[in-house]
Amino acid sequence: MTATDAHARPARELGVAVLGMGNVGAEVVRIITENAEDLRARIGAPLVIRGIAVRDTARDRGVPEELLTEDAAALVARDDVDIVIEVVGGIEPPRSLIRSALENGKSVVTANKALLADYTGELADAAAKAHVDLYFEAAVAGAIPVIRPLMQSLAGDTVQRVAGIVNGTTNFILSAMAQTGADYDSTLAEAGRLGYAEADPTADVEGYDAAAKAAILASIAFHSRVTMADVYREGISSITAEDLASAAKFDCTIKLLSICERITEADGSERISARVYPALIPLSHPLATVNGAYNAVVVEAENAGRLMFYGQGAGGAPTASAVMGDVVMAARNKVHSGRGPLESTYAELPVAPIAEVPTRYYVAMKVADRPGVLEGVAGEFAKHGVSIAAVRQEGDGEETRLIVITHRAPDGALAGTVQALEGMEAVTAVSSVLRMEGTDE
Ligand code: NDP
Ligand code: HSE
Repeated sequence: MTATDAHARPARELGVAVLGMGNVGAEVVRIITENAEDLRARIGAPLVIRGIAVRDTARDRGVPEELLTEDAAALVARDDVDIVIEVVGGIEPPRSLIRSALENGKSVVTANKALLADYTGELADAAAKAHVDLYFEAAVAGAIPVIRPLMQSLAGDTVQRVAGIVNGTTNFILSAMAQTGADYDSTLAEAGRLGYAEADPTADVEGYDAAAKAAILASIAFHSRVTMADVYREGISSITAEDLASAAKFDCTIKLLSICERITEADGSERISARVYPALIPLSHPLATVNGAYNAVVVEAENAGRLMFYGQGAGGAPTASAVMGDVVMAARNKVHSGRGPLESTYAELPVAPIAEVPTRYYVAMKVADRPGVLEGVAGEFAKHGVSIAAVRQEGDGEETRLIVITHRAPDGALAGTVQALEGMEAVTAVSSVLRMEGTDE
């Protein structure tokens, strides 16, 4: 046989099992079906869907009935399946299904950040042992390529910070509240209808989804194992229209940020900070213009400097695009009997508690409208060593609100200040305590 004959020999089919046919899975199936010829040319072998696992096979989904199955385990175990695409979500059954797939020599592509945030270690070990791929570009920031740039393009650099907006649902809600004054509940319902929100949207609005993504990003960026439990988390459910209006008066907006930082101590030792919270950012900050379900991730690396990744962070088709990028990579590796890069956790950097990471704060309180109140309030900040950067009074009479923006202060000092403010007779309530990011002070 000549080299030309070998090259011309048709490659064997690559069998694909799709687990889940919801927002993302339906788009994955559509792309594999509609783009079959191009995918075959790019991979060097045809991709053939062997089956699609769902909960309810009775529903018409526009695919041949015989492809649908409720027995995901049996589908994953088929000898003619080479690549498993997991777009079900949640911990079980995906964890067992993915493990079983990897242990049986199938490469896996998943969008499941909730699973990866806690189980990347065991799944990556199983993939390494079986010499197959475990890819998850779609797990962070939807369509935006950020996992592969961090894992491969920046593999020779030292990443200092990865920060951004990585949850589409909350960004959609906060943008709508800020821009049109839309109310929180109806905007959340709309995010669900558009396929952005998780099956349980609490994961979005309480910051769990963004925290899972922060754990994944921090692990890759800092070559260390970071899990959900390491990520400090606050959600957006207590953000009010008043907070957004007050932020605007300080030329700021409010975004749910995911921040992963390398902290270098005076003695040269290093730690990681991984945190998720709604924060005020100046309107001039690049993240302030990221609206709707769009996400953006800013990476700062020692030699590359600052890189910004921007695009659709949620939704069926954008997420399926990232899934399919991984599928093509895994399929090419199958064709060439290779595998992609392994995860790297050699640095083993510890994670700093939030109490040891100073930030700036925005504190809003309802106060009595009479002389001396501002002095008393400022006194409490001073007593706790928290320096004030700006103060603003809004409204009058019963509706008087005092907004204080601080310089950087440790979490503990701010917590002590808030407790003292809540004990003041002139302070009716401390209504909001938010952080402020994106400024040099
Ligand atoms: P959906 O809830 O829309 O779809 C889930 C699918 O999984 C459904 O088809 C459902 O079946 C099926 N399913 C659920 N349980 C089982 C089971 N036990 N066995 C077999 N099939 C099952 O989720 P999404 O498509 O929105 O999300 C899927 C994954 O992608 C999640 O991990 C999510 O976090 C992630 N992701 C989602 C994004 C988005 O914008 N939606 C963006 C990035 C990642 P049935 O149809 O019968 O109910
Ligand atoms: N629920 C997630 C979001 C989907 O809103 O960002 C994308 O990961």
